[in-house]
Amino acid sequence: MRRSVIRGSGHYLPERIVENSWFEERLDTSDEWIRSRTGIERRHFAAEGQTTSDLGIRAARAALDDAGLVADDIDGIVVATSTPDLTFPSVGTMVQAGLGIKRGFAYDVQAVCAGFVFALANADAMIRAGMAERILVIGAETFSRIMDWTDRSTCVLFGDGAGAVVLEAQDAAGTSNDRGILAADLNSDGTHRDLLYVDGGVSSTGTAGQLRMQGNLVFRHAVEKLSKTAATSLGKAGLTDKDVDWLVPHQANLRIITSTAQKMGLPMEKVVLTVADHGNTSAASIPLALSVANQQGRFKQGDLLVTEAIGGGLSWGSVILRW
Ligand code: UT7
Repeated sequence: MRRSVIRGSGHYLPERIVENSWFEERLDTSDEWIRSRTGIERRHFAAEGQTTSDLGIRAARAALDDAGLVADDIDGIVVATSTPDLTFPSVGTMVQAGLGIKRGFAYDVQAVCAGFVFALANADAMIRAGMAERILVIGAETFSRIMDWTDRSTCVLFGDGAGAVVLEAQDAAGTSNDRGILAADLNSDGTHRDLLYVDGGVSSTGTAGQLRMQGNLVFRHAVEKLSKTAATSLGKAGLTDKDVDWLVPHQANLRIITSTAQKMGLPMEKVVLTVADHGNTSAASIPLALSVANQQGRFKQGDLLVTEAIGGGLSWGSVILRW
């Protein structure tokens, strides 16, 4: 059978780093509150005029370099984002043009913070169906553009950035020892729309809008749903928590990550953490974490990775893959 193996990864973070102290000067908040409630210490914000596709293009180039490939080797691009440069065309096509590719397909997937997990599962299905040999899967966001800077309960949480992986078709035996994506579990429940949304849009207000979140309610869903989806997809792969070498979670809140790891019986040494330095970068957070950990040489070939995320919708899911 065919499996989708990660051949390379890369990321890009905007130059401007904003420490928690920046918010102390502007809002009724403190470094202590932000660190203790979220684990966030700093985040990157895109420069004026720097767009989501700019970040995505840089992450894609880094992933191609890491894979030892050139842009023409790519058959398709899937970008997970909720903060596109324009309403259309897709960020995917902008990344495609930026890389100088004129063949294959490019489009966006929108599942907010769960976007990269959805995009990865989507690209994997296309590769296994024989529709492409190599797909660039990118998570790229500029959440700083949809912040209400007067709302301390949200604006301290998010950051900008992009991460990318090159997924490549490889022949495999069809067992849980194969390299590549072994299973995925995707879920949505649109009745929770009001827990996390942006209060603007093309067909409603005609504006881009600003992010609104009932954080403590989202927190409860996250704690309950993330370990469950990980168990479901591990089960689909014929594996259990005990087989897991690395948890690469969505980086929204250290307390959510710790609770998920505890439920899975994983020590924190097996968890990739970037939340302190990146904040919550929505769909970019998992590929950023994957790329940072890969750059640090933390993954060995054959290691079993679990990625999981939850976000607006609500939408949540997980992907099991062997490095
Ligand atoms: O990535 C997409 C999915 N999103 C998430 O996973 C986010 C999930 N939620 C969270 O991470 C947490 O709920 C937050 C970090 C957003 C909030 O933490 P919390 O422990 O759930 O706090 P809370 O919302 O229950 O608020 C506790 C208190 C409130 O004050 P009172 O009502 O107890 O007096 C807030 O007004 O903390 C206050 N507060 C702040 N205080 C200082 C809220 N934001 C701040 C702030 N600085 N920035």
